[in-house]
Amino acid sequence: MNLILLGAPGAGKGTQATKISERYGLVHISTGDIFRANIKNGTTIGMLAKSYIDRGELVPDEVTVAIVKDRLTWDDCANGFLLDGFPRNLFQAQELDKFAEIDGVVNINIDFGLLMDRLCGRRVCKECGESYHVSMLNGKTTCERCGGELYQRKDDNPETVESRLKVYTEQTAPLIDYYTEKGKILNFTGTEAPAEVLFEEVKAVLDKLKR
Ligand code: AP5
Ligand code: MG
Repeated sequence: MNLILLGAPGAGKGTQATKISERYGLVHISTGDIFRANIKNGTTIGMLAKSYIDRGELVPDEVTVAIVKDRLTWDDCANGFLLDGFPRNLFQAQELDKFAEIDGVVNINIDFGLLMDRLCGRRVCKECGESYHVSMLNGKTTCERCGGELYQRKDDNPETVESRLKVYTEQTAPLIDYYTEKGKILNFTGTEAPAEVLFEEVKAVLDKLKR
């Protein structure tokens, strides 16, 4: 099963991706995670991506598409993959159509009013990637799961979040229609309910889609 996860910044793509990829044995490919790893390692791609990510803008298509195109040729993708944060505009979606077959697009719709607080309050584990909201941590600075140090993503600040939401509305949201027309869209509502509740709904739909 080859899937795409679509949703605004902070909709819960990464949170659901971990659960979905585990249950269905899919490789989780997050372009955001790939860029952050490159930034951490000081690669050429990382140096280029950093300036765009820090401003909340999209990294140029030719770079992003080439990364995904290459990643999908790896052997581990043969049993299915889950794209998290790609495609993010019409051009990327059209390019993806040329080198991959997609079975379904999990679209998480969310009330924008929730997102600023979710993102600016997010803390992420440096080791395992688990995320928390600062209001739940009671001052703790390490991960409950693995003990790793928690950090705040550099793009999780009010100014950059504004810009990310604008980019989503202008460039990414049109993909909902694109995949609806192709009969691929699977719509869900991301709410303040625990992520487990949303996952139960996603699971009920994906169990039927599974091939
Ligand atoms: P990326 O890393 O993809 O970030 P994003 O799309 O802005 O989304 P986030 O990762 O911030 O949020 P999420 O939806 O994964 O939510 P999460 O599960 O963490 O991209 C970053 C940047 O990289 C882009 O701005 C761009 O510059 C560049 N980039 C990436 N892909 C690109 C592409 N294809 N082309 C060009 N550039 C690209 O959840 C958020 C928080 O909410 C967490 O704290 C979580 O614990 C909490 N939460 C989750 N679900 C729930 C729930 N149900 N109830 C309550 N809290 C919840
Ligand atoms: Mg994410």
